[in-house]
Amino acid sequence: MAKRQRILAVVGARPNIVKMAPIYHAFKRHGLPLEIVHTGQHYDYRMSGLFFRQLNIPPPVVNLAVGSGTHAWQTAEIMHRFEPVVVGRKPSLILVVGDVNSTVACALVAAKMGIRLAHVEAGLRSFDRSMPEEINRVLTDVLTDDLFVTEPAGVRNLKKEGVSSGRIHLVGDVLADALRLYGKAVKRSDVLRDLFKERPKTGLPAYCVLTLHRPANVDDPRTLRRIMRAVQRIAEIAPVVFPVHPRTQQRLQSASTARGRGGESQLLFTAPLGYIDFIGVLSGAKLLLTDSGGAQQEAFILGVPCLTLRDTTERPLTLVGGMNRLLGSDEQRIVQEGLAILARRRVPQRRDYWYIDGHAADRVAQVLR
Ligand code: UD1
Repeated sequence: MAKRQRILAVVGARPNIVKMAPIYHAFKRHGLPLEIVHTGQHYDYRMSGLFFRQLNIPPPVVNLAVGSGTHAWQTAEIMHRFEPVVVGRKPSLILVVGDVNSTVACALVAAKMGIRLAHVEAGLRSFDRSMPEEINRVLTDVLTDDLFVTEPAGVRNLKKEGVSSGRIHLVGDVLADALRLYGKAVKRSDVLRDLFKERPKTGLPAYCVLTLHRPANVDDPRTLRRIMRAVQRIAEIAPVVFPVHPRTQQRLQSASTARGRGGESQLLFTAPLGYIDFIGVLSGAKLLLTDSGGAQQEAFILGVPCLTLRDTTERPLTLVGGMNRLLGSDEQRIVQEGLAILARRRVPQRRDYWYIDGHAADRVAQVLR
């Protein structure tokens, strides 16, 4: 890189902050300080500020405060507000992570202004263009100079798309770095004691975790009700901890889906959790039910079996050894597979890989230096 370096690193949504934290700390160690720009795609304290505080990264140098909107509006507005920041700060590199609207919007600004662009978590593909994130991934990677990839499938995808090998760097997964970096803080979390405080002191019950926020699952009331019926059945056997995303919160209300703990069901709704508490809950769980990409990966790294409430995944590594299964929103299969894992009729096994050794961000820094 040029002698005088200024790196602008973009975050917008909650998972971006988790990925950026180990990058920030590794770059600092390597003498590559980052300036973080927040687009404001996520703005509630529990979706944003809490993550900066818990992950011990400095507040953004700029917050574009874009807020929520349609995809076109949000993407365009981020571009509109990011461009003058780039003009003013003259970075030598712009670094984006993940696959949210903020990622593609800032990648477009970088490319059009001729500024070198790095993408961490490049190459992942679900091959499902109905997901907004898939469009964001493909477009971002077309524009990127330095593509940092988490797993071998990403390298294959990029090569098939015609990206030259010299620009592709298989470095591993920064989500594993975050788990390594914040492991001690996670152990100190009181979240499980607080969640299960009404239980007798005989130890924690076997429990599951649910996260749900994909438009395909929560925006159609029939699909949402089907998933929630399956979850209620599982919750009759074991408690299900459900940190509710704001989008899902709105949809649950309008779909008039049961929010209470009806009958014998033990569905424990909580507000969105910060990183430390979420990982605290996930690490002790017997099963994760999710439609999130990041949570699939975190469960895999932690060795927690996962049932994915989608038909595709951009993270095929998680499927190896049956650690993750793709069930869509099929009510019967979710119940069947969930109960099989809880009864230990199905015991998935995780293998070890260097890509999840917790040192991916160091490799990114080494390449850029
Ligand atoms: C976004 C990302 C998704 C990522 C997810 C992580 C895109 C296209 N989607 O989805 O890939 O998995 O973040 O959480 O970029 N809202 C609040 N408070 C907030 C943020 C959002 O109440 O701080 C509500 C708003 O009503 C908003 C809705 O949630 O309209 C959806 O937010 P948005 O950022 O558009 O998408 P997510 O579903 O969060």
